[in-house]
Amino acid sequence: MIYLKTAEEIELLRESCLLVSKTLAELAKLIKPGVTTLQLDKVAEEFIRDNGATPPCKGYCGYPAAICTSVNDQVVHGIPSEKQVLKEGDIISVDLCTLKNGFVGDSAYTFCVGEVSPELKRLLTITKESLFKGIEQAVEGNRIGDIGNAVQDYCETAGFGVVREMVGHGIGHKMHESPEVPNYGHRGRGPLLRTGMTICIEPMITLGRKELCFDEDGWTTRTIDGKCAAHFEHAVAVCRGKADILSDFSIIENVLNNLN
Ligand code: MF3
Ligand code: CO
Repeated sequence: MIYLKTAEEIELLRESCLLVSKTLAELAKLIKPGVTTLQLDKVAEEFIRDNGATPPCKGYCGYPAAICTSVNDQVVHGIPSEKQVLKEGDIISVDLCTLKNGFVGDSAYTFCVGEVSPELKRLLTITKESLFKGIEQAVEGNRIGDIGNAVQDYCETAGFGVVREMVGHGIGHKMHESPEVPNYGHRGRGPLLRTGMTICIEPMITLGRKELCFDEDGWTTRTIDGKCAAHFEHAVAVCRGKADILSDFSIIENVLNNLN
């Protein structure tokens, strides 16, 4: 069952998504060598609660933290830990959700820790660009496969791996709604996109092989070959002609640009 949202509901969803972006921007100020991922989790949870929302990841199927922090070969759903200290040259994906006014916001951004290698910078650039290639396809009349095909084609042409085991999703009152939004697929296939559908597009792209393995914690996913992965996510509302992006990377990137 795919729930279509009214214009009013989309505005409430936007508010939750913008709070995600603002929280990511707060974390952008802190991400540097020596910081632990647990410190990031604490700051994020406090910021979310101070803004009248709650972190729905906490307690979701037993997930123990407010945010997901995935460093280097960790792909998604890394659990923040005081043992995980960021170091120069790392990359870290931060994926977080907020629940406000009954709607869940969801977005993710991959950050550099200090100066990173040209190879990793390219991975981040291509992954983020592929997200926008996917978003271009999120218009009324297209199909879910058009989104995945655009992401896959862009990343594979660049020589990167496209994760299959984890996918994007519908979003609304629940963090995960129908439909699934894979980052691979065939043009013209899958569910039809209609105005009022709200979905999260979230390419998870690897430097090497596309296969994942799970850590013993049951959550953290890693690349099977130990090479780095990147992850960017936006929540969007499907419209006629052009998707409406509900989260906002410019809030994060303004912070990043002012740090340098
Ligand atoms: N944004 C993540 C996702 O869509 C949120 C996961 S929270 C967790 O998968 F609790 F499942 F970790
Ligand atoms: Co998501």
